[in-house]
Amino acid sequence: MKPTELPFPATAAAGDAAGWLRFDGIAKRFGDFTALAGIDLSIRRGEFVCLLGPSGCGKTTLLRILAGLEAQDAGRLWLAGRDIGALPPARRDYGIVFQSYALFPNLDVAANVGYGLVTGRADKARRVAELLDLVGLAGCAARYPGQLSGGQQQRVALARALATSPSLLLLDEPLSALDAQVREHLRRELRALQQKLGVTTLMVTHDQEEALALADTLAVMNGGRIEQVGTPAEVYGAPASRFVAGFVGRANWLPVEVDAAGAVRLAGVVLALPPAAAELRGGRAALFCRPEDVRIDARWTPGAQMAFVERVDFMGSARRATLSLGGARQIALQAELGPNDPGLEVLLPGQRVPLRLPPGRLRLFAEAA
Ligand SMILES: Nc1ncnc2c1ncn2[C@@H]1O[C@H](COP(=O)(O)OP(=O)(O)OP(=O)(O)O)[C@@H](O)[C@H]1O
Ligand SMILES: [Mg+2]
Repeated sequence: MKPTELPFPATAAAGDAAGWLRFDGIAKRFGDFTALAGIDLSIRRGEFVCLLGPSGCGKTTLLRILAGLEAQDAGRLWLAGRDIGALPPARRDYGIVFQSYALFPNLDVAANVGYGLVTGRADKARRVAELLDLVGLAGCAARYPGQLSGGQQQRVALARALATSPSLLLLDEPLSALDAQVREHLRRELRALQQKLGVTTLMVTHDQEEALALADTLAVMNGGRIEQVGTPAEVYGAPASRFVAGFVGRANWLPVEVDAAGAVRLAGVVLALPPAAAELRGGRAALFCRPEDVRIDARWTPGAQMAFVERVDFMGSARRATLSLGGARQIALQAELGPNDPGLEVLLPGQRVPLRLPPGRLRLFAEAA
């Protein structure tokens, strides 16, 4: 082996593709209150990560620590193999967009976008024009923020954040002040822009629909901790905790009995599930099931359970049915059926219909405390 070919390059551990940006045990307290209880998160170069969680769970605090606007009490931050945890904000190489537009009201659009550029005048003008083109605002350079809509102001803020071609784009609820239509439109544009530029992006949101639509990876936070990291499909389809299951998407929580051998009974009927984990045996548990995974059949087949159709709501592209199970119709659940679903022909209020719960889609959790 030649002396330059070391088996484990010294930079690989901290700067490899998978751990390009790393939060390593980041903790933060405000007085007695623990805002972040040891956050570990690894982000690939070029990845779009959404930090998703309810109000007060620590999303903004984590973003501000990464930006150097808040100091962590413990833990380290790595970017491309460098420990950036003690660097001043200006040396951390990011652009940031906040919920409120935070533009300079007394500067026109071009001056807002070019604010952080230290190049010569001609270069600056060229770069500003390029950025305005990129965010679809060519022709608005001479306007003032007060003459722009909310959506346009957020585009200016985005252009400003991208002006210096930073390694990282940080977004704190950038779309949440906008109305639903503009928000959805800008969401698509943001994703397209991020993919085009390949800029590693960390976006904070409490809107699960937005997170599912935008992110390569979701980090679901609760009470200062990350409860799950995964692709939108993983988090939606296989939630790791009861909190994640309830927070991301819609869910049925069905009360079930688990016997000493681990068999799971719903309204007295044994479900075709593998034996429940030991700690769930001999009591009640909560069975999680997405409404779109509830199967309604036109005819009864072995394994089906009869359900009573309480009501059917027309939702445009789908029907949402409220069903009940059990002799006293004591267990309520929701089912969502697409327009071509064969179960639709029997789905009428007041009918009893065969219902199946696909075992692969079910998850068993301890009952809520
Ligand atoms: N400077 C501060 N002093 C004291 N407490 C703070 C401070 N900043 C944040 N907190 C508290 O820390 C917790 C986390 O705040 P943070 O702003 O990170 O939440 P968030 O997840 O961004 O919520 P939201 O979705 O409402 O923006 C909250 O309970 C908040 O009250
Ligand atoms: Mg916040």
